[in-house]
Amino acid sequence: MADPDPQELTVPESSRFGEQALELFITGDEIQAKVTEMAALLSDRFRGRCPILIGVLNGAFMFMADLVRRLDIDFEVDFLKISSYGSETASTGTVRLLKDISADITGRDVVIVEDIVDTGLTVRFLRSRMEEATPTSVTFVTLLLKHEVANLDFPIDYVGFNVPNRFLVGYGLDVDQKLRGLRSLYVFKESRDV
Ligand code: PRP
Repeated sequence: MADPDPQELTVPESSRFGEQALELFITGDEIQAKVTEMAALLSDRFRGRCPILIGVLNGAFMFMADLVRRLDIDFEVDFLKISSYGSETASTGTVRLLKDISADITGRDVVIVEDIVDTGLTVRFLRSRMEEATPTSVTFVTLLLKHEVANLDFPIDYVGFNVPNRFLVGYGLDVDQKLRGLRSLYVFKESRDV
């Protein structure tokens, strides 16, 4: 069987970063252990309250799927998709909702599930958007937080890993929409602007 976590990978030729080398950054096993830990914390926090977990597409699909399989409480899921415009690497910019949730979140405990908080633009947008619908609570969960970059005036409640400002690929995160299916997280071997 092929090594599920090779130390090095090459970006597919069809990407504009084609043939560049990626190196292992966080292994699939480390991710799974962290997801188990986070699911236990969330289960304790929301026992008896049936929260709605809202995954932010596309990147969060894999983290969301692993996380909910480890919860031992009742819960519901929904998804939304947003698009950022303007300065992609700055904390200012415009966010547009491409797909909204279907659930009514009024009076519910909402848990936003992100793969990564980078500039913080997305979670800032989602926080004000969710609060308009007067849920009982809004909790933010992210597998990855770029703590040196994120511009936030509220805390992220549950963070899997604090990560440096590098281009991360795998476990839901893409390079030109590719490589989202990797079970581990990789970074470009040659440092690259994000
Ligand atoms: C990524 C990620 C977050 C957002 C974080 O999504 O999934 O939703 O960026 O960045 P921010 O903190 O700077 O707002 P992306 O727009 O790359 O789309 P994707 O999830 O479809 O890959």
